[in-house]
Amino acid sequence: MKNILIVGAGGQIGSELVPHLQKIYGNDHVVATDINCNSCVKLAENGPFEELDALNAERFVEIVKKYKIDTIFNLVALLSATGEKNPQLALKINMGALMNSLEISREYNCAVFTPSSIGAFGPSSPKDNTPQDTVMRPSTIYGVCKVTGEMLSDYYFQRFGVDARSVRFPGIISNVTLPGGGTTDYAVEIYYGAIQQKKFTCPLPQGTFLDMMYMPDALDACVQLMEADPSKLKHRNSFNVTAMSFEPSQIFEAIKKRIPEFAMEYNVDPIKKAIADSWPNYMDDSCAREEWGWNPKWNLETMTDDMLKVIGEKYAKGLLK
Ligand code: SER
Repeated sequence: MKNILIVGAGGQIGSELVPHLQKIYGNDHVVATDINCNSCVKLAENGPFEELDALNAERFVEIVKKYKIDTIFNLVALLSATGEKNPQLALKINMGALMNSLEISREYNCAVFTPSSIGAFGPSSPKDNTPQDTVMRPSTIYGVCKVTGEMLSDYYFQRFGVDARSVRFPGIISNVTLPGGGTTDYAVEIYYGAIQQKKFTCPLPQGTFLDMMYMPDALDACVQLMEADPSKLKHRNSFNVTAMSFEPSQIFEAIKKRIPEFAMEYNVDPIKKAIADSWPNYMDDSCAREEWGWNPKWNLETMTDDMLKVIGEKYAKGLLK
């Protein structure tokens, strides 16, 4: 990775992946792009920023040529719950950004990373210790796009030699940019609720286990996989990766240990519940560990300490209201 393009840089992953990659590869070698310039004011301070609608192939090509891009991170997607509200729009955006990323990578010889997700699995996938290679029949439009993306990425590798690699991310928990419209978002929002209101209303019922990961591990996964020796990769699109699995009352207890007055009630969102019920309880990520050394560092306890500290400081400094 020498000259890297981040498409959808203003989102939850991009807003932290850009500075992470800038530290490793140099500020001038990471080009942040997003359809919405307002969400990227901070990103544009330290390195190149370009406005880009990922569905506009001409503009996409112009930027790839201008910066001699050799690696593309395509982070554009409507998440699972939003996707169910407008499936046609999710299909258009998620697949449009993917197709442009793959085609442009083929034409301009770029490596390409498009995150897949636990959402690529469906109700007929094994729920516990979900294998790397298993039945994948998702019941959301988000998942349908993710499985298609995995298959197309492998096809572009086999047919055209495009260096396409990816991981199936679980819910990502972070303290910079909020996710939006995902089923796993509750595990981020709960920390803000705990600090600010000392209470939280959970949209998923007790007992709903889902895989999760703290952002620093997710950033490491992106870099480690893209830097991995290709001769060691038996799989490519996409690797199961996880760092922890918990259900709502477990994250509640972890926070309550640190904020004793914290209270949580449940008001189940039926769409989110149905989506979460169709996803794994926990995935088997041994292929990622064996093929490229995946080894997450954060668990529920250490992550909770850090989330409460960082978000608490932001409120104390008046950076959040
Ligand atoms: N976090 C995503 C969602 O909940 C899953 O990849 O939609």
